Amino acid sequence: MAIIGSGNIGTDLMIKVMRGSTRLEMGAMVGIDPESDGLRRAAKFGVATTAEGIDGLLALPNFKDIKIVFDATSAGAHRANWEKLKDTGVRVLDLTPAAVGPSCIPVVNLEDHLDDSNLNMVTCGGQATVPMVAAISAVAPVRYAEIVSSVSSRSAGPGTRANIDEFTETTSQALVDIGGAGRGKAIMILNPAEPPMLMRNTVYALVEGDPDLGRIESSILEMAAKVQGYVPGYQLKQAVQFETFTEENPLYLPESGNFTGVRVTVMLEVTGAAHYLPAYAGNLDIMTSAAMAVAERWAQHHSTTAENPELQEARA
Ligand SMILES: NC(=O)c1ccc[n+]([C@@H]2O[C@H](COP(=O)([O-])OP(=O)(O)OC[C@H]3O[C@@H](n4cnc5c(N)ncnc54)[C@H](O)[C@@H]3O)[C@@H](O)[C@H]2O)c1
Repeated sequence: MAIIGSGNIGTDLMIKVMRGSTRLEMGAMVGIDPESDGLRRAAKFGVATTAEGIDGLLALPNFKDIKIVFDATSAGAHRANWEKLKDTGVRVLDLTPAAVGPSCIPVVNLEDHLDDSNLNMVTCGGQATVPMVAAISAVAPVRYAEIVSSVSSRSAGPGTRANIDEFTETTSQALVDIGGAGRGKAIMILNPAEPPMLMRNTVYALVEGDPDLGRIESSILEMAAKVQGYVPGYQLKQAVQFETFTEENPLYLPESGNFTGVRVTVMLEVTGAAHYLPAYAGNLDIMTSAAMAVAERWAQHHSTTAENPELQEARA
C-alpha cells in the first residue's frame, strides 16, 4: 500500500499501519514537500519515499506491487491524483472530503463497498457522528440530523483548512445517505484553545412521533461499542438526552415550521491513540482507523477472491 500526503493524517496512518496491521505493508509515502516530517519519518522507517507527488509514485520501481493507495492530501489534489490512478488497477481510499467515489462509514456500510475502486471516507466528524444517526434511524425515523464537530486547530493541517466547505457538504450528505436522516447539516469548529482540546462531537436528531426511547438508547450504545472496536477512545461523554415536543409545546423550525416529536442529543468525545500527534487529536485517529479497517477488509476479501477461481470467474 502507499499513502499520498505526508501531513498529519498521512503520517498518523503510516504509524498506525506499521504498528498495528497484520495485513497491510507500507510500500511508499508520497508528498510534495521533501522537508515534511512525514517523508522524513517514512525514510527513517525504511519506506520508499518520493516528493514528486503522484508522478513520483507512478515512477517508483515498486508501484507494480501496490494494491491500495490512501489519499490524505486535499480534496482538490485528490481529484487530480484520481485522474492518474483510475486506470492503474489500484484501489483508492480517499481520506479527503472530495467524495469522488461512494462514501463509507465502516460500521454502517463497509460490506456494501468491498469491490469499489475509489471509496470516500467522508470526514473525521462524519466518522464520529454518522454511526449515531444511523443507530437512531435503525429504530425510528430521523427527520433532521445536525452535528457539530470541534477539533483542535493544531491537528488541522493546511489540507484540512483548505477543505472546510467540502467538510460541511460531504458530512451533511453522509448524514442523509448513510445516516438515514431526511435532512442533514454539519458544522466544523477549529478551536485554537491551549492546551489543545480533545475532539468533541454533538449530534442532534429530530425523531418524529412517539418513539421508543429505550430502543433508541440501546441502539446508540450498541453502535458506540462497534466504533470502539477500532477507535478505543470513542465514548459518550454523558447519557443520551431526550427532549419531547408536543402540540402544546412544539419546536419551531425556521425552514419547516412546528415540529412535534423527540430531540435526541448525543455528546461524544474521541481520545486519540497518539500515534502521531498527542491524544487530543482523536480526529486523526477516527479517520485513519476507519480507513485502515476498510483496507484490511479489502485485503482479506480480495486475497480470498484471488485464491478462489470460482469467485474470480463470477466476478469477471
Ligand atoms: N486533520 C484532520 O483532523 C483530518 C481528519 C480527517 C480528514 N482530514 C482530511 O485529510 C486531508 C489532509 O489533512 P491534514 O490535516 O493531514 O493536512 P496536512 O496539510 O497536514 O497534510 C496534507 C499533506 O499533503 C501534501 N500534499 C498536498 N498536495 C499534494 C499532492 N498533490 N501530492 C502529494 N502530496 C500533497 C502536503 O504537502 C501535506 O504534507 C484533508 O483533505 C482533510 O480534510 C483531516
